[in-house]
Amino acid sequence: MITEVKNSFTSSLLTVLRDRKSDGVSFRKAAEKLTSVLISKALSNLPVDSVVVDTPVESGVKADVLNVDIVFVPILRAGLLMLHPAISLYERGRIGFAGVYRNEETLEPNLYYFKVPVVKDAFYFILDPMLATGGTAACVIGKLLGLNVKPDRIKFVSLVSAPEGIEKLEAFSGVEIFTASIDRCLNDKGYIMPGLGDAGDRFCYTE
Ligand code: URA
Repeated sequence: MITEVKNSFTSSLLTVLRDRKSDGVSFRKAAEKLTSVLISKALSNLPVDSVVVDTPVESGVKADVLNVDIVFVPILRAGLLMLHPAISLYERGRIGFAGVYRNEETLEPNLYYFKVPVVKDAFYFILDPMLATGGTAACVIGKLLGLNVKPDRIKFVSLVSAPEGIEKLEAFSGVEIFTASIDRCLNDKGYIMPGLGDAGDRFCYTE
């Protein structure tokens, strides 16, 4: 299942990300804000506990508390740009890392690092700004399933997604994707079109 979060705020943040003239700092700020919006959306349909609180003007008011374990798993390196906004929103979130190198010729993913805490009944939020071929995403989802994480406990959060990657993740029924844009297609180098270029380079080489 995919949720495309599209409104005037997310569209204007995407414009900053897409514009090749945006400097590194503007890129980073827009990416962080957009991540916050997407993570808020992904948090919005999680189970809540019912509690009773006293407000300053009324006692015994029924209320909800989001009380779940979440493990944020940024995919190195571009996913790192999404980590700070994620844990700022959900401060008790745990953190794991997946390092995946994409072979630029074959576009095949190579997993070189995977350290993710196993937490019973936790939700796992995979953070990767670009869902392109879906190879990297499928590789990390496969590792989580290997840890006995149920597919409906996995959320994949990307800023921009290609139809090719979305189709690849359809094989993992129950995994939910949250993205700000479903773009047109991939080019022959595996870049999303119109996309925003290399998210990792633009995030890391901030001027
Ligand atoms: N990774 C990126 O950084 N950009 C793309 O367009 C595709 C994959």
